[in-house]
Amino acid sequence: STLNHLKRRSSALENSQNSQDVFKLALAKKAVELVKSGMVIGLGTGGTSLVIEELGKLIGEGKLKDIVAVGANYHSRLLAKQFGLRTVDLNDVDNIDIVFDGVDEVDFNKNLLKGGEAAHTVQKVVYSMANVCIILAEHTKVVHRLGSKFPVAVEVLPLATSPVSRRLIALGGVPEIRSALRKDGPVITDLGNMIIDVSFPNGIQNPAELEKNINVIPGVVDNGKKQLAFHFLHILRVCSLCYIIC
Ligand code: 5RP
Repeated sequence: STLNHLKRRSSALENSQNSQDVFKLALAKKAVELVKSGMVIGLGTGGTSLVIEELGKLIGEGKLKDIVAVGANYHSRLLAKQFGLRTVDLNDVDNIDIVFDGVDEVDFNKNLLKGGEAAHTVQKVVYSMANVCIILAEHTKVVHRLGSKFPVAVEVLPLATSPVSRRLIALGGVPEIRSALRKDGPVITDLGNMIIDVSFPNGIQNPAELEKNINVIPGVVDNGKKQLAFHFLHILRVCSLCYIIC
């Protein structure tokens, strides 16, 4: 079954020599220590799948009870169900106790670049409802200047890709419609939109301003730049090369 497959994948990962996977697993194990029975959990993407697997183990062992999960995309909702978490829709909860998410880049001012998995629009809503936000970041994700390695993901109404691209060029960006891997055609998000990846060859000088300037373009749903708004921000070094930013 899928569950057995996922469990085998989890234990294979635990034995893996791949350093990124080892870091992700270390982060996930540390992250679940923050979860208590009865909590409403927000689930993002990427390394979050290992958090879901670790939560599933604790639920299976009876160490955690009555966990309710809100997933930011179809994949995290499905995985949560498979690992025994009760999933609900965003509209069904007033508040989220703790959200876990991966990230594409994070700078030293806790500016995040999200959207590698095209789920950033819903993730930003999930963050806005959370008391605590835990970002799982391997050392490769920490950058001096946002936009160094990844483009800014912009979720766009499919009928507006041309006018939006022109406005993104005017902001100094180089836009490219994201194509689906191993399929012909563009990536379509869970919300039915397309993604324009915008690179900034000179780096992003002012991430907060860029986030606002992109989001006022008609046809843009949301972009992957986000500043963590929590005032109790700190960085926890989980191992020499991986961090929890919360
Ligand atoms: C999706 C994202 C990132 O692409 C994703 O969370 C990164 O995951 P990983 O931990 O696998 O590198 O922000 O919107």
